[in-house]
Amino acid sequence: MRADERIRVLNTLREGIASGTSHSAEGVMRSPLSDFTSRSLLEQEQSVFFRDTPLLMGLSTDLNNPGDYWADSKTGVPILMVRDDDGKFHAFANMCRHRGAQVVPDGRGNRNQFSCPFHAWTYNKRGNLIAINKEKKFGCVAKDDHSLVEFPSAEKYGMLWVKPSLGGEIDVDACLSGLEEDMEAWELNSHPYAREQDIHANTNWKLAIDTFGENYHFDVLHSQTLAPSIRGNLQTHDVYGKNYRMVFAYQHFDKVAEKIPQMKDWPMRFMTLTVYFIYPNVILLVDPGGVDVLRIFPEDNQTNKSVTCQRWYLNPQSMMHFMTNSHELEDRFIGFNAVIQNEDYRVAESTQRTADSGLVDHILFGMNEPALHHYHNAHREGLGREALQLQTAV
Ligand code: FES
Ligand SMILES: [Fe+2]
Repeated sequence: MRADERIRVLNTLREGIASGTSHSAEGVMRSPLSDFTSRSLLEQEQSVFFRDTPLLMGLSTDLNNPGDYWADSKTGVPILMVRDDDGKFHAFANMCRHRGAQVVPDGRGNRNQFSCPFHAWTYNKRGNLIAINKEKKFGCVAKDDHSLVEFPSAEKYGMLWVKPSLGGEIDVDACLSGLEEDMEAWELNSHPYAREQDIHANTNWKLAIDTFGENYHFDVLHSQTLAPSIRGNLQTHDVYGKNYRMVFAYQHFDKVAEKIPQMKDWPMRFMTLTVYFIYPNVILLVDPGGVDVLRIFPEDNQTNKSVTCQRWYLNPQSMMHFMTNSHELEDRFIGFNAVIQNEDYRVAESTQRTADSGLVDHILFGMNEPALHHYHNAHREGLGREALQLQTAV
């Protein structure tokens, strides 16, 4: 984040603590519950968001060394991501060119080459077909024409991006739409991987994303968990194309501020939690301990099932602390699951049941939930749907 932007954000939070004000929208928005139950909408989302849109997959530190790979099918398309011997990041369709079997099971590791489990056709780190088992018996195959299919991919600001369909290129700056300086400033490529987990929930994937989009609920739903450390009802909210950034203040914000006279010297990362929505399906959290990348997907082709794939990366400045206090590292990881699974997603599942009942046709996003307004309209824009409008009264 640029220095002047940092000051603007810190100042907004400081004034918000003093006056009780927070960034807010100009009105209230109705959101139709059919958006969480419609099968035809889910099909459009799968096609547009999870095939034709560049997706943030993870951080560069997921693939540190040549031969490091990550096979992932959460988009619905099996993707094999690999770092080659020159350090270049590739993403392939994880589909064998013989009979189409998945070449590498979902997971991670390091391999020099990739041998298909069906008949052992073998590919190198650049996806080239390098060996056909019993080649003379199989018949004549032009190996050069049977490389793994390569998807557009990009690596920038310590982030890995993939578009799981054929053709085109990924312009990471265009995807970030103004968040480039933020991402560069966090030095994501110096955050090593720490832990991962998948959190399954019986709720539409967008309702899962919604739970990250405001802190109006902190003092209520998270009264015993997050509220003692993070202030509710206080946020900055800024939009960057289809993305947003919110910054929340820790309870100790003003105590730190009091001790350091110049705002330019305030240790922002240790006073705030920054929440990014990165279109179309990622919540990226930056806190003092590290960075969480949460990729959220529909699951099992169902409108009312989702999976949140959390990967957590450590802040290099907190590494020594975590190494000497390893229980805190575990507590943070397990605690994250407890809050999301037992609190946020439990209420999101109840909203899903309301949607499925058909007895209520819309829900409301308040003036103090501006990120939800932006995010739902970003999705609508992506699908060519009409934007939801703000209303002064509902
Ligand atoms: S399907 Fe891969 S080797 Fe036969
Ligand atoms: Fe929450």
